[in-house]
Amino acid sequence: MNVQLNENFARIKPSYLFSDVAKRVREYSAAHPEKKILRLGIGDVTLPLAPTVIRAMHKATDEMADAATFRGYAPEYGYDFLREAVARHYASFGVTVSPDDVFISDGAKSDLGNFVDLFGDVPVLVPDPVYPVYVDSNLMAGRNVEFVEGNEKNGFLPTPAGLSDTPRLIYLCSPNNPTGAVYSAAGLAEWVKFALRTGSLILFDSAYEAFVSDGSPKSIFAVKGAEKCAVEFCSLSKTAGFTGTRCGWTVVPATLGDGKLAPKPMWERRQATKFNGVPYVVQRAAEAALSDEGMAECMANIAYYKENAALIAALLEKKGIPFTGGLSSPYLWLKCPGGMGSWEFFDYLLSKAQVVGTPGAGFGGAGEGYFRLTAFGSREVTREAVQRLDKLL
Ligand code: MLT
Repeated sequence: MNVQLNENFARIKPSYLFSDVAKRVREYSAAHPEKKILRLGIGDVTLPLAPTVIRAMHKATDEMADAATFRGYAPEYGYDFLREAVARHYASFGVTVSPDDVFISDGAKSDLGNFVDLFGDVPVLVPDPVYPVYVDSNLMAGRNVEFVEGNEKNGFLPTPAGLSDTPRLIYLCSPNNPTGAVYSAAGLAEWVKFALRTGSLILFDSAYEAFVSDGSPKSIFAVKGAEKCAVEFCSLSKTAGFTGTRCGWTVVPATLGDGKLAPKPMWERRQATKFNGVPYVVQRAAEAALSDEGMAECMANIAYYKENAALIAALLEKKGIPFTGGLSSPYLWLKCPGGMGSWEFFDYLLSKAQVVGTPGAGFGGAGEGYFRLTAFGSREVTREAVQRLDKLL
């Protein structure tokens, strides 16, 4: 082959964090087939879809089986019924979003990765540690990434204090993946003020909003002025257990920028060209998840995961291991005991207790020496993991 490849791929790690973790676990499992492995690594849900969601999927499937109700290509930005349901979801916690600014997709990860198509050679600011997709998708596109560190001192919630006035793309994630830290309204307002003053654009990942229970904002649009400097990515993966069903959305306010080269018309153009929408059955399922009945069932599942988080948190407290998260987040971010490195601790837990977590170093340099556990396991697995860790640590 003699075609020039995108050399920017040489700037990213050859494999994705969760693929690396899965590979190590596969290798361990192949060498020790008799060992039962407890997976608290990738944040994948374990509870089934809510009954209201399943009913909607069955009904929509029946519609697809009948020529009178069959649907082909979906509208390119999502069915109106779902765009309106998303806007009502925001209204349920006091945030106004226009259905016309809601773009339905197969999840936040895809949109976060694809949204970078809209930008030129702009500086990018990313918190460290953070969900690896923000960094990798910008490196693939040839941009440079600057980091702002989350650490114990700032409660893993970096602020714009001390940054130069250069306009940038700024990624924020709250509740944060991986640290579980959550910005207060005042914390987010600082970022919005900074973005408005410098002409920056905030790309806000709210995939874990359903876990917020301390009164912190569930959306950047809860902050005044955000509609002029922010785009929000959200997903039903964690809210409604859609990790395998796939549905999310991005809110791109019409109030951003002006003229044809503004984010909203550009995103419309980009999606119309490169994306064919989410299946009708899945959009009906998503609509059902966002209904009052569906959301009550989803919140019961979230309460279950939070009880798992409390079990893990109690163990960490008992052992005197410092951690953040677990309250308004499914993730617990802990300091590796005994000064161990993240991957060292990963290997230690895997080999001695067959418990899988995610090494903090995989989320950025500032994550070295930390480790993430997820509360998305079943109760049985979580309890057993806690017992094993209690013996080991
Ligand atoms: C995680 O474990 O960080 C997430 O499940 C990954 C994702 O949402 O893509």
